[in-house]
Amino acid sequence: MHICLNEFIVFISHGLSVTTIRTTCSVISLDRLAVYEGMISFEKTSVRRFSDKQQPHIMTKTKFLLTLTACCSIIGNNYAQVKSKDGAIIAARPPMGWMTWNYFADKISEKDIKEMADAMVSSGMRSAGYEYVFIDDGWQGGRDNRNNMIPDPQKFPSGIKALADYVHNKGLKLGIYSDAAPLTCAGYTASLGFEDQDAKIFASWGIDYLKYDYCGAPNDVETAKERYKKMADALHNSGRDIALGVCEWGERKPWQWAANAGGQLWRTTGDVRDKWKRRVTEKYGEGIMDIIDANKHLASYAGPGKWNDMDMLVVGLYGKKGPSGDLGGTGCTNVEYQSQMSLWCMMASPLAATNDLRNMNAETKRILLNKEVIDISQDELGQQAIVKIDNELTTIWLRTLKNGDHALAILNRSDTSQNIQCIFETLGLTGNFSIKDLWAHKLIGKGRRWKGNVKTHETKVFRLKAI
Ligand code: GLA
Repeated sequence: MHICLNEFIVFISHGLSVTTIRTTCSVISLDRLAVYEGMISFEKTSVRRFSDKQQPHIMTKTKFLLTLTACCSIIGNNYAQVKSKDGAIIAARPPMGWMTWNYFADKISEKDIKEMADAMVSSGMRSAGYEYVFIDDGWQGGRDNRNNMIPDPQKFPSGIKALADYVHNKGLKLGIYSDAAPLTCAGYTASLGFEDQDAKIFASWGIDYLKYDYCGAPNDVETAKERYKKMADALHNSGRDIALGVCEWGERKPWQWAANAGGQLWRTTGDVRDKWKRRVTEKYGEGIMDIIDANKHLASYAGPGKWNDMDMLVVGLYGKKGPSGDLGGTGCTNVEYQSQMSLWCMMASPLAATNDLRNMNAETKRILLNKEVIDISQDELGQQAIVKIDNELTTIWLRTLKNGDHALAILNRSDTSQNIQCIFETLGLTGNFSIKDLWAHKLIGKGRRWKGNVKTHETKVFRLKAI
């Protein structure tokens, strides 16, 4: 819970004693109540939700003192979601952008990244909502004689600050990468023991996001919590709003602790490969379906400022060799890429494209730039779609949207096309609905059910509006 943090800081510092306080409340998430269990007991009725504009709220002295206790605990331990300078939630919607890793691996350069930033604008990606240019592993050139991290001078001759300025001038944001150990996954300089110094350098360059990896770190969960919190604290104290992406591949169930450690999103699986699913002969390598199945039961952990990260989109890679081509990544069909986009949006995952934005074919653009599907991803309520039906042939998800509409996704998991009927009442939706097909961009009917053909590995996405 995070109530009126800024005001309380003022009250604490002024030592005010009051019987009634007029203050303002921002978003309150009830699931955080557990954090304070045993320390305070809140009546649910004392918690009011203001999801739109901030509104005034009168508190009694007792409630104020209880809340003050909770806020002090937050100030000391936990500021997931409230650390933006203006009080807004950081990463209030799943971050969207383009990430260097699956296309370039560590062979990155400021020239290529600038070209991708240009392409984000000219291709319409920026207008569709893609905002971040995420630099992944391989940018580092070690530390200087004052232990400040420096970029590889060959790859980034103008430095990261100049690149951040370039990207910001285009209305985009810049993400960077490090690791909670001495070296990163690809063997470059990382941040363990230098968290404060690195966070300050990132802030001074104008970085907006940090992907913080976990190669070379111990296996236990307690160390992971400590190391992520250390970096979250450092970012919080850096003087700049920098979102933190936790990347320990879901191995220590980060959905249970990463938000409290200060992360805004956390990977839930190992690295995505450019394949539909792991074949029986393959022991490793996460295909699109493997990630969907790992993530589909984690909906209760997601919400504004705390997202289950399903890893990068492989849309448009078509089996290009490189990281996504390892471990059986031989490419997907356009129908399968459409399913990835559909379900990453339905499940409120961050969206990090990784294809070559400078050379996209029409199908890749159609998939990545589907504004109606992106609107589901970015819906203000931030609800991760909930699985309603799940069997060998099909999985059906439902997601409630801010304006009261529902997003419905129907995936054909099987290897043949299927005629599928979905009766809305079986999903808990009573009444009549207008049905918009968000891939066909058409209102396709009205009623209490949808019936139609779904191709093998296809996902249909509908917007249902009560009528
Ligand atoms: C790990 C991460 C990947 C990528 C590489 C870079 O494998 O999970 O997403 O960042 O490291 O080395």
